[in-house]
Amino acid sequence: MHVTLRQLDVFDSVARHLSYTRAAEELHLSQPAVSMQIKQLEDSTGISLFEQMGKRIFLTDAGKELHRYARNIRQQLGEAEAVLEDIKGLRTGRLHIGVASTANNFATRLLSRFVSEREGISFSLDVTNRETLLRQLENNEQDLVIMGRPPDGHDLEFFPFMANPLVIIAPVEHPFTKRRGIPIQELDGQTFVLRECGSGTRIAVENLFAEIGVSLSTRLEMSTNEAIKQAVEAGLGLGVASLHTLGLELGSARLAVLDVEGFSIHRQWFIVHRKGKRLSPLAAAFKDYVLEEAGGFCGLPGLPRLAGADNARWCRDCPQHCELESKPVQPGIGDV
Ligand code: PGA
Repeated sequence: MHVTLRQLDVFDSVARHLSYTRAAEELHLSQPAVSMQIKQLEDSTGISLFEQMGKRIFLTDAGKELHRYARNIRQQLGEAEAVLEDIKGLRTGRLHIGVASTANNFATRLLSRFVSEREGISFSLDVTNRETLLRQLENNEQDLVIMGRPPDGHDLEFFPFMANPLVIIAPVEHPFTKRRGIPIQELDGQTFVLRECGSGTRIAVENLFAEIGVSLSTRLEMSTNEAIKQAVEAGLGLGVASLHTLGLELGSARLAVLDVEGFSIHRQWFIVHRKGKRLSPLAAAFKDYVLEEAGGFCGLPGLPRLAGADNARWCRDCPQHCELESKPVQPGIGDV
């Protein structure tokens, strides 16, 4: 049986419309050309596919059977085409990712693992604050963004994948570092070095302090977490930072985490894109990778026992076992 895809397509059209004329219109062919294709198909199958009754045509039993197969063949071909496109798209292409500066450390390592398994791809990574990321999402400038919970009403889809605990940091020689369970009210009047307006970390801190009625005194605003840590180390004030931005400083005992009763901001990291955005196969693969891998991925590599704090609250014997990261992500307190 020598049947071509073209013949099957023509046959499918005639079988759906039960009309040579309408099939010819649909396929932009002449009616004799349609009849010719059907005649050739009947010759090569050796059986009549249509029967004529008056002016109307009907599928024969053989025609009905062949129609079922013709539709399956088309559907299978469509699926094969989509799978091949996906494979092509995953091997090559460019990813545009935006990352909150606070998430930079672990996000870069996640991305590096992802691209190391896919040689032909390249990416751009924009590390910036929350406000800028929201604007980029609105302008459709990024495929995907890693940030704190975005606000409602921005036509965004967002998926939590990792906890983001915030802590208060101080220089090691600060008197508070020797104390446990410092009542949060004692922070009233302390000077803080804070991130710039537009930072998600800053918004979360301001919200918490406003809620518990402690005034936040700020002398210095800085636009990077690195600058905050240096300023705190230099004695310019206390700071608030995500545990994901600490590590080295705590290890070398330049900074300490304060054990403050009532300071509890457990935010979450989200992977975000515009609602209804058609993700490229590569972007969709990265999104799945983050959601699947990050659950078992330690965002706090090599974090030493936290100086001056109840370490077990956050991370136990990291990186072998990270209690915080292996827990399912809970709705965040302090998500903004
Ligand atoms: P950042 O973090 O803007 O403070 O860097 C993002 C977020 O927490 O939303």
